[in-house]
Amino acid sequence: MTVAPQLIVVANRLPVRRVEREDGTSEWITSPGGLVSALSPALAQSDNPSWVGWTGDSNHLVDEPFTVDGIHLLPVPVSPTELDAHYNGMSNGTMWPLYHDKVGPVEFHRTWYEGYRTVNRRFAETVAESAEEGATVWVQDYQLQLVPGYLRELRPDLLIGFFLHIPFPPAELYNQLPWREALVAGMLGSDLVGFQTPRGAANFRRVASFLGKATVDGDDLMVGDRRVRLGSYPIGIDFRRYEAAGMDHATSERSRDLRAQLGNPRTVILGVDRLDYTKGIDVRLRAFKELLADGVLHPSQVTMVQVADPSRDAVDAYIDLRARVERLVGEINGDYGRVGVPVVHYIHQTQNFDALLALYRTADIMLVTPFADGMNLVAKEYVATRYDESGALVLSEFAGAAHQLTEALTVNPYDVDGLKSAIAEAVRMTPEEQRQRMRDMRKEVEATDVRTWAANFLDGLRS
Ligand code: F6P
Repeated sequence: MTVAPQLIVVANRLPVRRVEREDGTSEWITSPGGLVSALSPALAQSDNPSWVGWTGDSNHLVDEPFTVDGIHLLPVPVSPTELDAHYNGMSNGTMWPLYHDKVGPVEFHRTWYEGYRTVNRRFAETVAESAEEGATVWVQDYQLQLVPGYLRELRPDLLIGFFLHIPFPPAELYNQLPWREALVAGMLGSDLVGFQTPRGAANFRRVASFLGKATVDGDDLMVGDRRVRLGSYPIGIDFRRYEAAGMDHATSERSRDLRAQLGNPRTVILGVDRLDYTKGIDVRLRAFKELLADGVLHPSQVTMVQVADPSRDAVDAYIDLRARVERLVGEINGDYGRVGVPVVHYIHQTQNFDALLALYRTADIMLVTPFADGMNLVAKEYVATRYDESGALVLSEFAGAAHQLTEALTVNPYDVDGLKSAIAEAVRMTPEEQRQRMRDMRKEVEATDVRTWAANFLDGLRS
């Protein structure tokens, strides 16, 4: 059933990965990411649904379109040198730390920006060459901030939306960018720009008018006589999928086995993050260590599991963070573990969905303590799997999710004492209080799930 004009999603990565078979051949399979499940209903209703992105592998360049699960995939080839400038450099060495309050080192290099421009231009040209007349194009995230501007120039007939998954920083930080004008003008090529929070939209509005790129008209911006609408669209998760998997008998069994492997401690504390310096993994470990030292927590009763999904490991700041985190884990286990019984179980590996679910179901306390975060979907995933309303969530006030999950124990991750108090409070929380808080949070996560997010954005764009 096709009811809507063509929808083209443009994201840095295609929603597929190549799997090598034993006979040496390979096939593409869909990666079960949040974005693809969010967009699948809209893509299913679209004429010739398409997705433009990088395959995630610069050593095997693919430039021929192919189709997986009914979605027409248009790969954008990115060479290893371009990857270094566009992805490792400008996206993750300049924009990522700058947009996250400079919690990591920010570097500005003209060659990185050159590579960023080249790759953004190639993405825009790929869309421009394949889009049907009047198609809807939805560009995702900071790696592609110039794409809407290029598209407006190449194909003014298109309806263009842009969604920023990470925070848009205050003017005081953003204005440090040597390419601030071009990067704002890029976003202003859109008809609708979406942010995770109203603050992101307000920061962008201020920056765009300060740089003289647009004038403010109520909540919107005007570029000449063209209106660019701004809005806050907090992203969600596939609530039903996480809830159902949480309730699944197989998950309960995995969770029971996992708890037994951990030595059946009274309390299991969990952290699940990409290994990223914005996530506050180190501060969380430090708080845990001090609680053990203070005798508030006892190693025979409490176990912590920290999953650190490998990420961006060609970027120096990520290499440094890994060393810092692993040293802390070693110190804690050295001081408080026993032979065969570590107090912190540290997993620097990507977990599959089943393993992740078992972890969420096992965790009595979930720690989500980023210094800055656009939304943080881990917090929402944890809440969705707690169908019996048990469990406590400790959540940084600097995660976008804190605007919605107001019943979490909110913390300032820069305040180690505050974090320690919140963890101690979570350990002591009565089942009744857990239920009350979890019930409210579950309602919120269900009401604003990822399909609602996608539908709201696309309705806004097309209205
Ligand atoms: O939300 C931020 C983001 O960079 C997304 O754009 C991306 O899908 C995800 O984090 C993972 O990052 P990467 O593609 O760098 O592994």
